[in-house]
Amino acid sequence: MKAVVLESFGDSNKAFSIQEVAEPSNLAPDEVLIKVESFGLNFADVMARIGFYNDAPPLPAILGYDVVGKVHKAGAEKGEFLMGKRVVAMTRFGGYAQYVKTKISGVVEIGENMQAYKALALATQYCTAYYACCELTNLFSSDKVLLHAAAGGVGTAITQLAKLKGCTVYGLTSSYDKVTYLKDNGVDFPIVAKNGDYHQQLKELLNGEKIDVVFNSVGGGTYKKDFKLLDKGGRLLLYGVADRLTMRKGFLGTVKLLWKFGLLTPVQLLISSQSISGINMLRIADYKPKTLKRCLEKVVEMTHSKQLNPKEGGEFSVEDISLAHQLLESRKSVGKIVVNW
Ligand SMILES: NC(=O)c1ccc[n+]([C@@H]2O[C@H](COP(=O)([O-])OP(=O)(O)OC[C@H]3O[C@@H](n4cnc5c(N)ncnc54)[C@H](OP(=O)(O)O)[C@@H]3O)[C@@H](O)[C@H]2O)c1
Repeated sequence: MKAVVLESFGDSNKAFSIQEVAEPSNLAPDEVLIKVESFGLNFADVMARIGFYNDAPPLPAILGYDVVGKVHKAGAEKGEFLMGKRVVAMTRFGGYAQYVKTKISGVVEIGENMQAYKALALATQYCTAYYACCELTNLFSSDKVLLHAAAGGVGTAITQLAKLKGCTVYGLTSSYDKVTYLKDNGVDFPIVAKNGDYHQQLKELLNGEKIDVVFNSVGGGTYKKDFKLLDKGGRLLLYGVADRLTMRKGFLGTVKLLWKFGLLTPVQLLISSQSISGINMLRIADYKPKTLKRCLEKVVEMTHSKQLNPKEGGEFSVEDISLAHQLLESRKSVGKIVVNW
């Protein structure tokens, strides 16, 4: 089979090559082999390509979390009900290939008609959003929600889930070009955060009030700013550190990132009845497979019933994998980026 192999860290033009590699074999009883029709990009792929992602497999590596395709083989009877079915899967690497083996806890049937970009957005980005908004915390109509990278894959999904609950959404972006997209997707107050000034803009918009729930995927100094805006009883969910890209590679860059987070004692949280939660969907896939399955089934169902509406952010052929990566890294993308075999 063919696969997109990450051969070296760095520039997307040089990092990847399309190679003939062995088809995955030795399926475990809880695994299936999927013949991939399309795969999706996640920001974690960019972090992995640059060498900022500790969970990524060693080089040469096949990245990729999201695939759409048909189940080709099952490891045991457990997976046989999926044979021949068109599915979406959260693959936990290996997705940039013509065939991928993955655990059935991350596989859900989607039917023949769901567009690939919609299904691909569900595997990781909508699952993360659903886990954040509906499992880790609950959202209420009175909640004022602050959301980083609101036009991105996870941001699009969190906005839709928060609006279904009736929340007021303050959505951040670095680009004026994304404001219309944010408004169309339901963001009540789009905020263009140039030069890190969003804190002041938000204070003016809030007019003395505070934020109830923060969804932060950037980390670093934004975390401290967000915490200052958090109301008593508020919840802050941290699920990414995109800010790591602005710092140099290696130990010193990591120390700088941690320093920007600052220190906080849990007693402070107790006194102000606030909470901070971290999310890592790989850990959920590894240790809470039933939770992953529940979230994926739920977002597939909500997409079929049109409560959720994943947005397409660009379609590429596999030969243009480096262009797809460049788009995601450039901060110009919105919604889900799809790559077709
Ligand atoms: N913890 C988990 O399990 C988990 C799962 C899925 C995703 N995530 C995280 O959630 C975030 C969103 O993921 P996604 O796949 O949906 O990507 P995405 O939001 O579609 O793309 C990333 C966006 O992050 C914003 N951004 C902020 N600082 C950036 C920087 N220094 N460099 C580049 N972009 C920056 C950009 O939007 P603006 O320029 O408009 O701000 C960019 O478009 C990522 O941080 C990702 O790592 C975490």
